[in-house]
Amino acid sequence: MKTIKTNRKHQVLITGASTGIGYASAIYLDKIGYRVFAGVRTESDAQKLKENGSENLNPVLLDVCNPESINTTCDLISKQLGSDTFSLVNNAGLSLNGPLEILPMDDIRKLLNVNVLGLLSVIQKYLPLIRKNKGRLVNISSGHGLLAIPDKSVYAASKFAVQAISDSLRVELKPFEVSVSNVIVGKVNTSVLGKIENDRRKMLEGANPEVVREYTQLIEYFDKEVKNIPGIEALEVAKIIGDALNNRKPKAQYLIGPGAKKMKVLAGFPRKMRDKMLFNAIYKNKKCNNSAEM
Ligand SMILES: NC(=O)c1ccc[n+]([C@@H]2O[C@H](COP(=O)([O-])OP(=O)(O)OC[C@H]3O[C@@H](n4cnc5c(N)ncnc54)[C@H](OP(=O)(O)O)[C@@H]3O)[C@@H](O)[C@H]2O)c1
Repeated sequence: MKTIKTNRKHQVLITGASTGIGYASAIYLDKIGYRVFAGVRTESDAQKLKENGSENLNPVLLDVCNPESINTTCDLISKQLGSDTFSLVNNAGLSLNGPLEILPMDDIRKLLNVNVLGLLSVIQKYLPLIRKNKGRLVNISSGHGLLAIPDKSVYAASKFAVQAISDSLRVELKPFEVSVSNVIVGKVNTSVLGKIENDRRKMLEGANPEVVREYTQLIEYFDKEVKNIPGIEALEVAKIIGDALNNRKPKAQYLIGPGAKKMKVLAGFPRKMRDKMLFNAIYKNKKCNNSAEM
């Protein structure tokens, strides 16, 4: 990675900056000289960022599923920008794992709302600023946005959508010199891992036990798998985001964290071979290293 030199002229909005990758990125980008607008949903999360950042770290209240919140924050930011470069990092995201048959439809809607519609709404609202101020767009995706595996149908659908949106916009925005990067993240040690475990437990408790029994092998396989894989620290992803924002030649796709590269390679295998490998790993109790994230 090339050394990053920045000055306060580069400004960036990060969605979902209360915890994990978003929080680490807000603190890191502030440290290396960006003026950061960090999207959070509560005053207490805003306070936490203020306490740990410089005066150039500005928490803003932003719920990506709430149009009023998107509009208010955009008005506030646009008044402060002037002609300085302005970029957007779409990081806010939820996770949802489990066999489709037992996933509550409300949870599916919620995830697609945040991961896909929320992301699209924020991009659409901020594009005029990004275009005018020659900024960049960085979308946080996952290995599951390249390789869809069992237990992850809904999450994978949302991250495939992020990949598709990034691919479309990269060419659509080229005439305006706006680069679009997709950061494909493997397992990262953030609070999402605890949330996944909690949500999964609740979902299994609420599901029809007979149906759960039918999927026992699959559920047990992925319960074990998520615990067995070591994750990286969120700061490592923050540094990659820094590169996507500041490198003279930002990449269309960055791969970071355990499993990301492996999933990209596997995604290139013929479907028949991939399916067989996954099936054997889950149902024939063979060790599988196909997926290395949640
Ligand atoms: N950790 C991993 O292993 C991993 C792997 C691949 C990809 N990713 C991706 O990386 C991104 C960040 O995940 P993370 O691991 O850092 O998880 P995290 O710690 O759970 O952070 C998720 C962030 O999204 C925010 N968020 C949720 N709903 C929102 C909404 N409606 N509006 C605005 N913000 C909202 C959360 O805010 P609240 O605190 O207010 O809920 C939180 O700040 C996600 O897109 C995730 O899919 C993570």
